Amino acid sequence: MPAMEDKRIVILTGAGVSAESGLGTFRDKDGLWTKYDLNDVATPEGFARNPVFVHDFYNKRRQNLVDATPNAAHHALGRLETEFPGEVLVVTQNIDRLHEMGGSKNVLHMHGEMLKSRCDICMHVIYWEGDLSLEMQCEQCGAAGAMRPHVVWFGEMPFYMDDIQMELDRCDLFVSVGTSGSVYPAAGFVSQVRHRGKAHTVELNLEPSEGSAMFHDSVLGPATKVVPAYVDELLANGW
Ligand code: OAD
Repeated sequence: MPAMEDKRIVILTGAGVSAESGLGTFRDKDGLWTKYDLNDVATPEGFARNPVFVHDFYNKRRQNLVDATPNAAHHALGRLETEFPGEVLVVTQNIDRLHEMGGSKNVLHMHGEMLKSRCDICMHVIYWEGDLSLEMQCEQCGAAGAMRPHVVWFGEMPFYMDDIQMELDRCDLFVSVGTSGSVYPAAGFVSQVRHRGKAHTVELNLEPSEGSAMFHDSVLGPATKVVPAYVDELLANGW
């Protein structure tokens, strides 16, 4: 049994952790994918077909996100990283910056970051809080019309997969927060961890996710309630 300082925790988060900060989820009632066809706004093909529409969609979401503030769940996860003697890694599917604002430093954005933009030609990435348009030029290669949101669309490879796989393979505790478990590869992380047989797995969500039966424990409720309570318990008594 490793000492606490040698233990490693991986927290996977999804849109549910940011819901109480006013950022919508995707598949709940009133979720983004009930209003938009993801093929139009979240695929490279959709962007190629109608880049102005896609820029407009992300420009509106970016402004919501710039104004959003972290909630008690983000702060609790930040506190966990500070106070837990071992390693804590947040792997998030979210493209907001609320984990960082809540104090988490060790964060991998596997679906990218909305407040960054990337040149489709030379791959140069910039921090960008403003609107994107076809008139914008890449500051590195000078290409016009090639800047796109630095997010992962369906059909594209998520970021940091090698690092994430390594951490899933050596973690002692895997916690999933606020995700429906319907988008791979993130939806498959729990079965990968279970397959190894060594780590404890916990789900914290408003309702059972699609992979709920795979977890050892499941705590249901809003993230701002269940995450701080879970972090308190974890820091006091382990798992
Ligand atoms: P979903 O919208 O699929 O799922 C959100 C989950 O959060 C649901 O299970 C809700 O029950 C739960 N939830 C809602 N409010 C909550 C609250 N206050 N507290 C706790 N849980 C709450 O969002 P994701 O699972 O994040 O990808 O979706 C995964 C990916 O699908 C996204 O990253 C995005 C999307 O298409 C891309 O666009 C590539």
